Amino acid sequence: MAGWQRPMKLSRQVIVSGVVQLILLLFLCDRAGACTAEEREALLSFLAELSPRPGDGIAASWRGSPDCCTWDGVSCGGDGAVARLWLPRRGLGGTISPAVANLTALTHLNLSGNSLDGAFPAALLSLPNAAIVDVSYNRLSGSLPDLSPPVGLGGLALPLQVLDMSSNALAGPFPSVIWEHTPSLVSLNASNNSLGGLIPSFCVSSPALAVLDLSVNQFGGGIPPGFGNCSQLRVLSVGRNNLTGELPDDLFDVKPLQRLLLPWNQIQGTLDPERIAKLVNLVALDLGSNAFTGELPESISQLPKLEELRLGHNNLTGTLPPALSNWTGLRCLDLRSNSFVGDLDAVDFSGLGNLTIFDMASNNFTGTMPPSIYSCTSLKALRVGNNQIEGQVAPEIGNLHQLQFLSLTINSFTNISGMFWNLQGCNNLTALLVSYNFYGEALPDAGWVGDHVSNVRLLVMGNCQLTGQIPSWLSKLQDLNILVLAGNRLTGPIPSWLGSMKKLYYLDLPWQASTQATCHCHSP
Ligand SMILES: *[C@@H]1O[C@H](CO)[C@@H](O)[C@H](O)[C@H]1NC(C)=O
Ligand SMILES: *[C@@H]1O[C@H](CO)[C@@H](O)[C@H](O)[C@H]1NC(C)=O
Ligand SMILES: *[C@@H]1O[C@H](CO)[C@@H](O)[C@H](O)[C@H]1NC(C)=O
Ligand SMILES: *[C@@H]1O[C@H](CO)[C@@H](O)[C@H](O)[C@H]1NC(C)=O
Ligand SMILES: *[C@@H]1O[C@H](CO)[C@@H](O)[C@H](O)[C@H]1NC(C)=O
Ligand SMILES: *[C@@H]1O[C@H](CO)[C@@H](O)[C@H](O)[C@H]1NC(C)=O
Ligand SMILES: *[C@@H]1O[C@H](CO)[C@@H](O)[C@H](O)[C@H]1NC(C)=O
Ligand SMILES: *[C@@H]1O[C@H](CO)[C@@H](O)[C@H](O)[C@H]1NC(C)=O
Ligand SMILES: *[C@@H]1O[C@H](CO)[C@@H](O)[C@H](O)[C@H]1NC(C)=O
Ligand SMILES: *[C@@H]1O[C@H](CO)[C@@H](O)[C@H](O)[C@H]1NC(C)=O
Ligand SMILES: *[C@@H]1O[C@H](CO)[C@@H](O)[C@H](O)[C@H]1NC(C)=O
Ligand SMILES: *[C@@H]1O[C@H](CO)[C@@H](O)[C@H](O)[C@H]1NC(C)=O
Repeated sequence: MAGWQRPMKLSRQVIVSGVVQLILLLFLCDRAGACTAEEREALLSFLAELSPRPGDGIAASWRGSPDCCTWDGVSCGGDGAVARLWLPRRGLGGTISPAVANLTALTHLNLSGNSLDGAFPAALLSLPNAAIVDVSYNRLSGSLPDLSPPVGLGGLALPLQVLDMSSNALAGPFPSVIWEHTPSLVSLNASNNSLGGLIPSFCVSSPALAVLDLSVNQFGGGIPPGFGNCSQLRVLSVGRNNLTGELPDDLFDVKPLQRLLLPWNQIQGTLDPERIAKLVNLVALDLGSNAFTGELPESISQLPKLEELRLGHNNLTGTLPPALSNWTGLRCLDLRSNSFVGDLDAVDFSGLGNLTIFDMASNNFTGTMPPSIYSCTSLKALRVGNNQIEGQVAPEIGNLHQLQFLSLTINSFTNISGMFWNLQGCNNLTALLVSYNFYGEALPDAGWVGDHVSNVRLLVMGNCQLTGQIPSWLSKLQDLNILVLAGNRLTGPIPSWLGSMKKLYYLDLPWQASTQATCHCHSP
């Protein structure tokens, strides 16, 4: 009966450990009563400067018991000292009291998502035990406190690991205390403020930094050298600033980098094939809306994990490298508004089964829509507008069951009837933009057209010189919001049923050959 003895032994162990835990718990509860008078005073001073939402339990909870370890949002450590002050999204207004500085045992502070205003208190950067400080999504304003040397620290290092001050109204430069005295810093989010000045070289003294988000601020100058020391950095997000210059060499030595997001700056330079190829862990690269020049290096498509490449609104030139064909992990490719040229047929898209967004609008691509693109059955958005593409939309477009957005605007496509016929399988299509194509063709009038594009909400077919009448199949588009037919040669009356299309709120029609009736109404 050996099989019986083992479980017996085990359950005895479980009981014993349960008893030990119970004793430990009683001991802790007992100790937890030991919240000090100084801490209680500090918390009550903190409360006094807040304006809690009427009806929120905080004030009642805090004034109801002398033991601050039991208060709503407060918890103590084993020694009875206040370790956590956790009050996110509690509708708190007012300011953050400097009395917080007296909660010297505090390790976790979260005041995110309130309406706190006033300055960012220096106390938050001098708490000797704080590992997490989150004051994101408030209304803190003014500059960050510059504590050098750090008040009361005697040159000691802060144990801070996570600092989130994002989505406030903070301004001015970044004080050195945040990166010179925080050797354990793992994550720093200061995005969505008005911070300015130069970006510091964080990792010289904060080598553990893994996430740095300074996006949506007013930082200027170049991206500093020194990122080569960030041996743990996974996310670097510095988009929507005022950065200039070229990418520093050592940025490409940051092997762990997964997301490099630098859009909406004025960064220059070329995409050097050898440097890019070193970032083997990249999942997302966003360099959109900058001033990059040169060609798209083939090596970019060989980064094994890259899924998202955004290079729109730069000055890139040349043809797409055929090696793109082998980039099977690709999900999003944005090449919009550059000066790329060449025949898209040179790329075989048939292996790109995960491609969801492909935007090549506003370049100088030529040739026809490559047939292989119709095998990308994950496609949700396809923009080829403003190029020099000719030919027809092939029947295989019906394979794209997920397609929601199709823009062919300003090209030389022909056979508009065939396009509508072939869109039969694209049941999820909600936006169809084809202006400046199909010159002088007849707009098909048959009822099946309405069935093929029945879910379309945005239909833009301006400036095609189409002939015929305003077709009655439009009445089948129950969800139509926006209809543009201006710049065509449609004749006949404006049908009365247009006025009863419930969701239509923007209508731009050709009227009496040369006059256009433009009507902007708003839905109720
Ligand atoms: C602070 O609380 C919010 C809301 O619960 C949460 O989303 C956020 O992750 C917390 N901050 C940290 C650093 O844990
Ligand atoms: C911290 O506590 C001491 C003693 O209770 C008090 O004198 C001091 O004013 C407190 N500090 C702050 C910033 O409230
Ligand atoms: C930083 O905070 C903002 C909101 O304030 C958030 O949108 C963003 O995702 C955060 N960055 C990172 C890298 O988590
Ligand atoms: C930026 O901050 C403002 C103010 O806190 C907030 O309303 C907005 O949602 C934030 N934006 C993002 C993208 O987080
Ligand atoms: C890292 O920082 C040290 C100390 O400042 C510096 O000497 C070294 O050159 C840096 N290394 C890199 C790769 O940037
Ligand atoms: C951005 O930088 C340019 C030149 O360096 C400067 O003229 C401009 O004022 C800056 N803009 C902001 C918003 O800081
Ligand atoms: C592209 O180059 C042209 C001329 O060289 C310049 O005028 C334009 O501003 C540049 N565009 C961008 C987005 O850098
Ligand atoms: C795709 O990869 C295969 C195998 O590595 C290679 O032989 C082929 O040349 C590649 N195709 C292109 C277009 O680079
Ligand atoms: C496509 O996406 C799926 C689901 O996210 C993933 O499992 C698969 O590995 C991806 N395919 C390629 C070739 O990366
Ligand atoms: C496209 O090519 C035409 C002539 O070949 C040229 O005039 C035009 O500037 C080019 N446009 C772009 C965006 O490169
Ligand atoms: C539309 O897309 C949804 C989700 O992407 C998908 O589940 C559905 O099958 C698609 N509809 C059609 C008609 O293919
Ligand atoms: C127009 O497209 C349809 C459907 O693809 C096709 O059957 C027809 O032959 C095309 N017409 C012309 C003139 O190419």
